[in-house]
Amino acid sequence: MVEATRKAFVTGHPIKHSRSPKIHGYWLAKHGIDGSYEAIDVAPANFAGFVKTLQANGYSGGNITIPHKEAAFALADNRDQAAQDIGAVNTLWFEDGILWGGNTDAHGFAANLDDHAPGWASNGPAVVLGAGGASRAVIHALKQRGVDDIRIVNRTLARAMELRDRFGAGVSAHGMAATGELLADAGLLVNTTALGMHGNEGLSADPALLPDHAVVTDIVYVPLETPLLAAARARNLKAVDGLGMLLHQAVPGFERWFGIRPQVTAELRALIVADLVPKP
Ligand code: ATR
Repeated sequence: MVEATRKAFVTGHPIKHSRSPKIHGYWLAKHGIDGSYEAIDVAPANFAGFVKTLQANGYSGGNITIPHKEAAFALADNRDQAAQDIGAVNTLWFEDGILWGGNTDAHGFAANLDDHAPGWASNGPAVVLGAGGASRAVIHALKQRGVDDIRIVNRTLARAMELRDRFGAGVSAHGMAATGELLADAGLLVNTTALGMHGNEGLSADPALLPDHAVVTDIVYVPLETPLLAAARARNLKAVDGLGMLLHQAVPGFERWFGIRPQVTAELRALIVADLVPKP
């Protein structure tokens, strides 16, 4: 029997800047798999229809990005624990004809720190900047890994308070004014806001205020070296960029669709780094 080509996708709106096809394309080629992974732009009005016809169109599953993660959560027949806790789905796959929705962002976040800052989860209190969807994934990962003092700092305090109520024990909510005090004994600082992206020079927390053993990470990866990471390195702190989170979040999806658990290698990272350089 000849096995059919396995097909996966990433969808968002817009989607043309997604690096996911490069990541999965690299792994497909590396493992010699007869499969495809394509970027498909789907407008919000067409998203439900797109999901309902996935199986008929021969897809094994795919990735979901902005603005469809909450809609994918609602449309999945079943959801894994991470998706339930985060309230968003970034990975879809079929099991016995049932559409499953998962969230691999928390895994990506933790695996990136495991690679570049081993021991990060037992380094002390964590300060998380931002209270949006990305922050939910980070807080889920921190809780999973046993961080028991998680301090959410957000411009809009009410959103931080919503997340505190959602995630419960060990999570506190703060306005920006408290940042300095919260950093003084923190072991981890995570930026989940778009500040620092594309040359946006904002710096809402000063790594100079952290203790010497602190780790600083940014989930933004364009640019790779954000102003926050640069400030952390200038202060001689361990600084971890956000690209590894993107690479690691892709691993579980690839395994589900194509049956092999791929590796995040230096070669893959270099391939994507080359793609981040602005084209003239
Ligand atoms: P995502 O899903 O990527 O996390 P989001 O839900 O839009 O995106 O959340 C963006 C986060 O960045 C929020 O915490 C937002 O703060 P508010 O809740 O106060 O809006 C934060 N953010 C965006 N721009 C900001 C800015 N200029 N200064 C401070 N925080 C900012």
